[in-house]
Amino acid sequence: MNAMTDVVATTSDAREGASVEAASITKRFAMAGGGEVVALSGVDLALAPGSFVAVVGPSGCGKSTLLRLIAGLETPDAGAIRIDSEPPSVAAAQHRIGVAFQDHALLPWLSVRQNVALPFRLAGVPVDEARVASLVAMVGLAEFAGARPSQLSGGMRQRVSIARSLALSPRLLLLDEPFGALDLVTRRALNLEMQRVWESLRTTTLLITHSVDEAVQLADRVIVMASRPGRLHASFDVVLERPRTRATTQGDAFVALTRRVAGALDDAMAQP
Ligand SMILES: Nc1ncnc2c1ncn2[C@@H]1O[C@H](COP(=O)(O)OP(=O)(O)OP(=O)(O)O)[C@@H](O)[C@H]1O
Ligand SMILES: [Mg+2]
Repeated sequence: MNAMTDVVATTSDAREGASVEAASITKRFAMAGGGEVVALSGVDLALAPGSFVAVVGPSGCGKSTLLRLIAGLETPDAGAIRIDSEPPSVAAAQHRIGVAFQDHALLPWLSVRQNVALPFRLAGVPVDEARVASLVAMVGLAEFAGARPSQLSGGMRQRVSIARSLALSPRLLLLDEPFGALDLVTRRALNLEMQRVWESLRTTTLLITHSVDEAVQLADRVIVMASRPGRLHASFDVVLERPRTRATTQGDAFVALTRRVAGALDDAMAQP
């Protein structure tokens, strides 16, 4: 997984990170048996251009919903979201948003290479084969470029999804537990790779993860959410030097901060 330099090199068109503003977001869903669930209530979130923010929180607290709202895949019942001062639908239509979701949603009849190239086809622009190849190599799948998703492990599929999210050099990267199904070793390698890519491109990134360690290692700011209704519970600035290596994650400052974040997460989970 050392093809990062190639990825950056073929990204001379790299766009600056987007700004994101979400103000007083409320989102409700109707429940099958009647009634409704308040997935998000009064959520305020601002991402500075080029920042990396991680979100942790109990299952069902609205993390994916928040991401889908920012991606323009859902609309809020109240409040407003702006990406570079425009509605998410505008940013999405201009291919300024890259997404990698929990369910990787690869097209089963396409190869790895074709899945990574899909955003080019959907955008109606010529496929940059060199960039596709370097993205596939970056996630360690060069040997599997011609394989179909059914021939890959779950973790490999997720890696394809991450590569695909970067295809069009997005200004905003929305990642919903992209490393969830990966083994620890691969996950660590990808975390380091992700960091390097982000440090080079400064794509504004919002990462949802269940790993407090991962959140603290990668992000400038870690947000802890609580549920019922889904809301922001706490926020921590991460002022650790970059790049954050294995040594960083073993240092006192890192360990102290992950403890505080984990404590806030325990608090959030203890709330009704
Ligand atoms: N399309 C939908 N229709 C109905 N309810 C939904 C829908 N999407 C989400 N919800 C509800 O909204 C709440 C928040 O769901 P969401 O998927 O955002 O949680 P999450 O924090 O991502 O959880 P997890 O960590 O398990 O992925 C849940 O109660 C869920 O049942
Ligand atoms: Mg989710």
